[in-house]
Amino acid sequence: MKLLITGGAGYIGSHTTLELLNAGYEIVVVDNLCNSKEESLRRIQQLTGKSLVFYNVDLLDRKNLDTVFARESIESVIHFAGLKAVGESVKMPLDYYYNNITGTLNLCSIMSNYDIRTLIFSSSATVYGDPHTVPIKEDFPLNPTNPYGRTKFMIEEILKDLYNSDNRWNIALLRYFNPVGAHGSGRIGEDPNSTPNNLMPLIAQVAVGRGSILTVYGNDYPTPDGTGIRDYIHVVDLATGHLKTLNKIVKDPGFYIYNLGTGRGFSVLEVISAFEEISGKKIKYTIGERRSGDIAICYADPARANRELSWKTYFGINDMCVDMWRWQSLNPNGYE
Ligand code: NAD
Ligand code: UFG
Repeated sequence: MKLLITGGAGYIGSHTTLELLNAGYEIVVVDNLCNSKEESLRRIQQLTGKSLVFYNVDLLDRKNLDTVFARESIESVIHFAGLKAVGESVKMPLDYYYNNITGTLNLCSIMSNYDIRTLIFSSSATVYGDPHTVPIKEDFPLNPTNPYGRTKFMIEEILKDLYNSDNRWNIALLRYFNPVGAHGSGRIGEDPNSTPNNLMPLIAQVAVGRGSILTVYGNDYPTPDGTGIRDYIHVVDLATGHLKTLNKIVKDPGFYIYNLGTGRGFSVLEVISAFEEISGKKIKYTIGERRSGDIAICYADPARANRELSWKTYFGINDMCVDMWRWQSLNPNGYE
């Protein structure tokens, strides 16, 4: 089966593409490289010994996107491409709405023109906002608290409307919790084009000497050690979640929503301590103010995905730190 992977050069897209190639799929990647490098695709091909087709195309560029569909006999699409920095989305809401929503509208309308209706979409746990309780189930109320989260929420609604308008669409919304870690080879990993905002890459940068000190955003949350709790999921487990989802929806078409998380939460201090143990480095940190928009506790109930996709996570927090550290120390400057 030939798949189109939008955003395939990025962090989650590259890990998923690698697993899909290993599973025997033919892959076409569309990415405008606004937050990634083509080197990730070169390394995936090296690691798998298989080739893929890459188009440096922006989803906002309808004409060139159409050309990709005209040239390639695509059967299904996994749609990762989007802007994802919460803080930046607050400062540049129009860019976020335009890129994420218009990009998705272009993609879906071109898919429809070519009679392609199988789509897996990268959504986020951020659509739940501050949950009234944990673990979070898929039917919890949705209440995103920032423009980035609202783009995900709006795209989910658009895709639901699309499915309701025509049941030949076959759509899965995957709500990721906190993806971390890297491929076990240490050859591919997360390498954003600007400074990372997420905890694990920031810890890794302090460990490798690229950053001097980590700020822990608040230690007065109602959690055992006062710091925020999240459901960290190894990016390779997340990647296999996409393969399982594809198997499911190809066999049994419909409209699906799945949480992809481990079901276990770790606090910021627990993550720092796990990383210190694995890397043998002391992570210098200071306690700062709470970061605006952050919530105390967020972790998934992944039971639906476990049951319906026959998917479960294999990697624990130590594996996540080991693989993150390997990637960071072998590639201190990312793909450069
Ligand atoms: P990433 O930035 O590494 O990957 C996204 C890719 O999309 C990049 O390679 C970027 O160049 C590309 N892209 C962006 N806009 C594009 C456009 N208009 N046309 C073509 N390419 C474009 O991010 P990621 O962490 O791999 O995230 C992948 C998806 O998962 C995103 O949709 C993100 O919102 C979602 N997600 C990520 C997280 C996370 O913490 N990493 C959590 C939940 C959901
Ligand atoms: N944190 C710090 N210091 C930092 C960075 C983060 O203490 O320098 C803390 C945060 O306060 C939070 C935890 O580490 O308690 C995790 O923060 P991240 O920024 O790594 O992740 P978030 O949970 O805030 O958000 C991430 C993605 C979102 C996505 C969400 C899904 O950035 O895009 O997970 O749950 F929507």
